[in-house]
Amino acid sequence: MGNTVEVSDWIIFIGRFHPLMVHLPIGIIFAGISMYFLARKKKFSQMKSAIPFLMGAGAVSAVLSCIFGYLLSFQGGYDNEALNAHQWMGMALAIFAVLAYVSVVWKKTKRIVVLQSGLMVFLLVGLVYTGHLGGNLTHGTSYLTQYSPDPVRKLVGLPPKPVKRPPVTLLDSADIFLDVVSPMLSDYCVSCHNPGKSKGDLILSTYERILKGGENGPGVVGGNLAKSELFRRVSLSEHHDDFMPPEGKKPLSVEQKKLLELWIMKGAPDKGQMGNFEIDRDYLLAANKVLGLEGQGNNSLAKRVEPADSSVVASLNAKGYLIRTISGGSNLLDVSFLSNGNKESVNIEELLPIKDQIVYLSLGNLNLRDEDLEVIGQFENMVRLNIHSNPITDDGISFLGRLENLEVLNLYGTKIGDIGLEGLVLLQKLSRIYLWNTQVTPEKVGNLKAKHPDLEINMGEVSS
Ligand code: HEC
Repeated sequence: MGNTVEVSDWIIFIGRFHPLMVHLPIGIIFAGISMYFLARKKKFSQMKSAIPFLMGAGAVSAVLSCIFGYLLSFQGGYDNEALNAHQWMGMALAIFAVLAYVSVVWKKTKRIVVLQSGLMVFLLVGLVYTGHLGGNLTHGTSYLTQYSPDPVRKLVGLPPKPVKRPPVTLLDSADIFLDVVSPMLSDYCVSCHNPGKSKGDLILSTYERILKGGENGPGVVGGNLAKSELFRRVSLSEHHDDFMPPEGKKPLSVEQKKLLELWIMKGAPDKGQMGNFEIDRDYLLAANKVLGLEGQGNNSLAKRVEPADSSVVASLNAKGYLIRTISGGSNLLDVSFLSNGNKESVNIEELLPIKDQIVYLSLGNLNLRDEDLEVIGQFENMVRLNIHSNPITDDGISFLGRLENLEVLNLYGTKIGDIGLEGLVLLQKLSRIYLWNTQVTPEKVGNLKAKHPDLEINMGEVSS
């Protein structure tokens, strides 16, 4: 009924009463059926006289509901398959409601009573099922389950609620499946390959099902691109009949396909940080692009430095620093501090012995002062610096002027103002800066954006 012909407003106006109207037959028939069964008990036998009236009213309202529903279908915009199922069930139900009415006013014989009980049970089940199909049409199939708590999800066989992933800011800590592959499939494929609608018998919303594949065998075979039907489908020519997603849907980009390939070649793991795999440069570039991390230095991160003194690293670890190399073959370090609410425990000078190795430093919300930035200003290989939510001002920011490799700077929740910002834009490689909740004025930002179109200044809008 995906009718595109102009129909009279009256048709749709009346049709839209269908969702309201259907509650009449549901309620009335339900009451009729309950009384039908209850009336067999002596205690409730006086209900018997109400049954013909209820079943009659139920049948009439069921027929009316069908008519209203039919009018509503002219509105269009429904999934045809789902609409048809609901429509035919609804019509069948109306016919059965009429039959049920006829049977209760008909002469009683033993055989009729048996038939009649069956009819009532059937009507009851049909009522619930048709109502559910109709609900799915209006609200979508995930309406009932979307907010279901985990115990309920378990009961109905749904996977536990997915935990929202924090946005990826560092390529190395991005998860190869959870941050790279899974979001891609969710965006491009899951609309047709989900538990409610599994085209080709394929579900792409869980790791297990992705591997399992559909009617033509496994979806993904770790380490084997040729046997991975999923990969074959996305890498065909776009005009090929088997190409996925089908015609009319946005295809995966070259970079996205490369990442899918990377994941499969790394054995299609269900998780694992990018930094823990040996990954060739062109895949890294693709990942940077797909994850919106471009500008996160290529040459700055290829720098050769001596490995950090392991005893220094060990003692820093013991103090609560989290220190990792940025990738397998590199001596460059990604350093952050787990504050555990203890803001006074960082003494930034402790990091000086590894200042040449640090390229990523994350020290948010640690009560850092302007003097501390004088120390950080000596970490000249720094590429990404996150010092959000610290009481630092323009005076301190001026020390960052020596960080010539700096590409991403997060200053949200600090006291930086227009003057400090002005100084920062002199940093040649700086490509992104976060300034939400600072004293920087929108005028200044507008002004700088016009002058430096390549610099992304994020004032709190959702970042890509
Ligand atoms: C618009 C709906 C739609 C979207 C979006 C879509 N598919 Fe499909 N897919 C289908 C249909 C329909 C079939 C079954 C017909 C066929 O095999 O070509 C199918 C079949 C498949 C199969 C074969 C399953 C088997 O074993 O037969 C794979 C693999 C597949 N899709 C992968 C994908 C991937 C990967 C994406 C996302 C990049 C995707 N699909 C997006 C509709 C879709």
